[in-house]
Amino acid sequence: MKVLLNEEQLRAGIARLAEQVRQHYAGRPLTLVGVMVGSIMLLADLVRLLDMPLRVELIQSRGANKGTKRPGPLVIDLELLMSDIRGRSVLLVDDLFATGQTLWELVPQLDELGPASVRTAVLLRKQGRQQVSLQPDFVAFDISDVFVVGYGLDYNDRYRNLPYIAELEPQETGG
Ligand code: IMP
Ligand code: MG
Repeated sequence: MKVLLNEEQLRAGIARLAEQVRQHYAGRPLTLVGVMVGSIMLLADLVRLLDMPLRVELIQSRGANKGTKRPGPLVIDLELLMSDIRGRSVLLVDDLFATGQTLWELVPQLDELGPASVRTAVLLRKQGRQQVSLQPDFVAFDISDVFVVGYGLDYNDRYRNLPYIAELEPQETGG
């Protein structure tokens, strides 16, 4: 396991991300929607840096890779999105943008609930994996196509609790 982004680098990158978000919305009421489980660390840090009116919601997108390299069918569960996002600015927050399939499927579903806008923010964008035309609106870090864990990201439910982002070597993922 090799540290890719240490705690200090993460903090700086998330501060830059928060500043971009703050400037973009300029005080307009914002609903942050975190994609469980991977985004919880980013979401918690981001909301503490955003000095503006906001709501926080969580949704689950099941079946998306499940912490392995294998892609799977994506089933999205919006039932947890309890508050009415109609007319509000929505920022979908996810840990990592790889193929883009997750956000590609989530954005139109949120759009159907009638928000003023739906934008996307991710901690990491993996280079060379994109399969959709959508790009995230806010990106903290671009990384190469390696398997990463920590700061919310898991491999078979392990390593989420690491306070930094580490690269798992191929022998550690059994592939
Ligand atoms: P996408 O739909 O291909 O963009 O995949 C995004 C999701 O796949 C992320 O939210 C993660 O849950 C998972 N994922 C993709 N790459 C990694 C990785 O390197 N480590 C852990 N999870 C990953
Ligand atoms: Mg995820």
